[in-house]
Amino acid sequence: MRSLVRETHLQPSALIYPLFLCEGTGVRREITSMPGVFNLSIDEAIKEVEACAALGIGGLLLFGIPDTKDELGTGAYASDGIVQRGLRAIKAVRSAESLVVIADVCLCEYTSHGHCGMVQRDGDHFQVENDSSVALLAKTAASLAEAGADIVAPSDMMDGRVAAMRVALDETGKQNTPILSYASKFASAFYGPFRDAADSAPQFGDRRTYQMDGANLREAMREIEQDIAEGADMLLMKPAMPYLDVIREARNRFDLPMGAYQVSGEYSMLHAAFQRGWLEPERAMIESLLSIRRAGADFIVTYFAKDAAKVLG
Ligand code: PBG
Repeated sequence: MRSLVRETHLQPSALIYPLFLCEGTGVRREITSMPGVFNLSIDEAIKEVEACAALGIGGLLLFGIPDTKDELGTGAYASDGIVQRGLRAIKAVRSAESLVVIADVCLCEYTSHGHCGMVQRDGDHFQVENDSSVALLAKTAASLAEAGADIVAPSDMMDGRVAAMRVALDETGKQNTPILSYASKFASAFYGPFRDAADSAPQFGDRRTYQMDGANLREAMREIEQDIAEGADMLLMKPAMPYLDVIREARNRFDLPMGAYQVSGEYSMLHAAFQRGWLEPERAMIESLLSIRRAGADFIVTYFAKDAAKVLG
């Protein structure tokens, strides 16, 4: 009877699993603060991809960890970049056709300074320059779509990137590639473990000049409106659990498909409690995911995707 009257449902097809691709072969390096999450060389990643497809998971979100970084984040838009090669390999796996392959678009994993855009330095002062960053981000989106991404997902939070990406995609013949915009992304302490995983912590300063102040819900709605006006096809809210009210408000106001990202720190803190025996892993995991769906997210990017899919069957 409970299942008959249940209001919110979780299914594997609504889950997206993030993968961190690195150079080499046979590499499977566990991230210390994220048990069960690995940096994977492409051959190892393929095994994960096959497992995800077999579990009925909805899709993948790809990040790259290049061997070399530079001021311009060249690796992000190189046609033989790590994610571009990963996309071609994943798209060649026949059993993975059911997976929607999303490429994260950002420069922070590829820049030597770890910022999401271009940095102008003036003595002790520095500035992340919006407009020159947008040009490179648009180039990155087009390059990822060309390599086979089904969806591109800008996470950089520069202004005007969605419009620029739409133009770049259309000019590359990728009119049918949708943009999933991290429209409302807060400057959050909960990204800490990700920055270990992707080796993308800023070398100086922080991301508060481009990511949002966690105190501001109305501003988040304005950011979303702007991205929709620029041509965003879907929205991604981030982080999830500390911002469930923001997800709910966005769901009430906007009709676009919307996902939420249960970020690295949300995963790590749950695992820390699991390790101490302080929380029941399966119940706490499912409850955390259900809360995000109940707040209004259609789909969830989560490091728990495989574990949850196993439980949900
Ligand atoms: C890149 C990016 C970040 C995350 C997703 N894309 C890191 C950041 O903004 O510092 C965080 C994901 C997570 O914490 O799981 N800009």
